[in-house]
Amino acid sequence: MVRLAVVGVGRIGGEVAYLASALGLVDELVLYDSVPELLQAQALDLRHTGLDIEIGTSKADIRDADVCLFSAGLPRNPAVKTRADLLSANLPAASDCVGMLRDFSGVLITVTNPMDVNNYFLHKKTGIPKARCIGFGGQLDSARFGFSLSARNIAGVPYVLGEHGDHQVPVFSRLEGAVAGPVRDEILAELRGSSMAVIRGKGGTVFGPAFHMTQLLRMILTDAQKTTICSCILDGEYGLSGCSLGVPAKIGREGILKIEEWELDAWEKRQMDEAGSFVCALSQKAVS
Ligand SMILES: NC(=O)c1ccc[n+]([C@@H]2O[C@H](COP(=O)([O-])OP(=O)(O)OC[C@H]3O[C@@H](n4cnc5c(N)ncnc54)[C@H](O)[C@@H]3O)[C@@H](O)[C@H]2O)c1
Repeated sequence: MVRLAVVGVGRIGGEVAYLASALGLVDELVLYDSVPELLQAQALDLRHTGLDIEIGTSKADIRDADVCLFSAGLPRNPAVKTRADLLSANLPAASDCVGMLRDFSGVLITVTNPMDVNNYFLHKKTGIPKARCIGFGGQLDSARFGFSLSARNIAGVPYVLGEHGDHQVPVFSRLEGAVAGPVRDEILAELRGSSMAVIRGKGGTVFGPAFHMTQLLRMILTDAQKTTICSCILDGEYGLSGCSLGVPAKIGREGILKIEEWELDAWEKRQMDEAGSFVCALSQKAVS
């Protein structure tokens, strides 16, 4: 029996609970939200699918989940410029989650923004080993990078490292041809604005993030042992420590099996260092 816990069943949490159920990835859901009416409505709506899924809403059952998705807290709106600006608004939700994850032995997926900082905060405050704290964002950013590349007929596999935020690091050096500095800057600016384009139009992102979160969930539950980009607690990798940042990592049933250290070119290295300084400073502030 596979149990998925979802803390915060709004737009994203609700969609992932639905997709994971519809795709047959889980047998049991434990849902929690600080708004009881929403929680009951989401549970009822999911029950109306008629899928053979056990759905509970008891906080106490979260600790026995195989995977817990932390998606509680405020999303951006057009007045909130960057994800990092959500830190003080969302730290209370992360602190609430710490209590729910006492004795948790599964894999934690952090979604709530600023995701990298929250992933580090939850690792530090719960004591869950770093291999079992996965921050989600890199797969989505990489897919958005792929969208920008194909619009310019640039071939190659898209990967985005760094912060899930303005300090993201698209890896141009692994593409099939060289991409000049001005084009890199143009694409980076496009990536920084890509989710806001959705937020302005429909109030928040749903399909892109929920699809890729479900892919990550599948990788964990099937012990895929494949590499994807996710936020990992760093301990010297890429010359960084004291934060969680998007890096290539091999994912399996126990979480992060291995962080890969890719060779980056000078432009990418500079962006990665800036991402590290920015996220590390915020992370240390959050845990202090
Ligand atoms: N990492 C990513 O790629 C990614 C993608 C999309 C959204 N997000 C982030 O995910 C978070 C959720 O986004 P959303 O669009 O689902 O927002 P939402 O407002 O639709 O849902 C958030 C839910 O969290 C609940 N909540 C708030 N505080 C809580 C607490 N202390 N305990 C339990 N529940 C609590 C709210 O009641 C709400 O139902 C935001 O921070 C958003 O920025 C991250």
